[in-house]
Amino acid sequence: MRTKNFSVKKEIIENTKVSSDCYRMTFESKEIAGQARPGQFLHIRCTESYDPLLRRPISVYSIENNIIEILYKVIGRGTGLLSKKTSGDTIDVLGPLGSGFDYQLVSNCQLPILVGGGIGIAPLYFLAQRLVEQCSNVTVLIGADTKRSILCIDELEKLDCKVKVSTDDGSFGLHGTVVDLLRKELNSKLKVFVCGPVPMLKQVNQLVSKYNVSSQVSLERQMACGVGACMGCAIKTQKLKLKRQNSKGKTQNYKRVCKDGPVFDIKEIVWEEM
Ligand code: FES
Repeated sequence: MRTKNFSVKKEIIENTKVSSDCYRMTFESKEIAGQARPGQFLHIRCTESYDPLLRRPISVYSIENNIIEILYKVIGRGTGLLSKKTSGDTIDVLGPLGSGFDYQLVSNCQLPILVGGGIGIAPLYFLAQRLVEQCSNVTVLIGADTKRSILCIDELEKLDCKVKVSTDDGSFGLHGTVVDLLRKELNSKLKVFVCGPVPMLKQVNQLVSKYNVSSQVSLERQMACGVGACMGCAIKTQKLKLKRQNSKGKTQNYKRVCKDGPVFDIKEIVWEEM
C-alpha cells in the first residue's frame, strides 16, 4: 500500500546518543505521523546546505502522538553530521517513503517473530508497536556484537514483547548470532519479519526456506534519489511466472529498494546477487 509523502522542515526535539555509535532523534510531524507505516523510511538531509548532496535513508523507529523518532547508526560523514545536530536545530525530511511490512492480518495463531541484527532492530520496534495492538504473543530476537551495543531491550519489554538476545562475544544472552536464536524458535506457524546486514539476511533466508516459513525482509541499501527515479538502489528479484511460461517457473527482474521495497518477501530476492 502506497502512502502520501511530505517534504517538511522540523525543529529537532532531541538527538541523544544511545550507544557508542547510535543516536535517537525526535521531532514532531503530524503529516508524517498520519501516514507512516512500519518498514517505511525517511529521506533526511544531514545539513542545511547541499553538502553532502545526498539525503540519508533512515527507517522510522517509533511514532506516538505525532512525535517521530528515528534510531540511526553513525556509519559515514552524513550520519556523523546528523549526530552533531542538537535540540532546536532544523531537520529537512522527505517521507514516509517505500513500502512497509504487511502485518495487518497477523494474528496470535501466526506467532509473529521479529528478528533484528544490529541497527536492523530500528524498523522492527515500530512494527512491534503496531503488532502488540493486534497480537499478545510478539517475540523479538535481537542480535548484537557485544552487550554494550544491544539496542531497545527495555523498550520492547515495556511493549510486553518476549525478548531474546544473542551477542557475538557471549557477553549477554546466547553466545552466537540472532540466526542461532531463530533456529531454536522455528516452526511452520511463524510469521518472520527481519532486518539486518546482508550476510545475516542470507542466513535467515537459508533457514526459513528449509522450513517454508513466511518471511518478510527489510533491506538496508545506499540510496540516491529515494523515490524510484535513479535506479541506484536496484536489486535482482525473482519474478514468479506461470509454469507454462518458464520451465523453472521463475524469471528474474530488477526492483528498486526505495520504491518497491525496502520490505520484500524473502523469497523474492536473488540472494546470491546481493
Ligand atoms: Fe533512486 Fe532508489 S535511490 S531509484
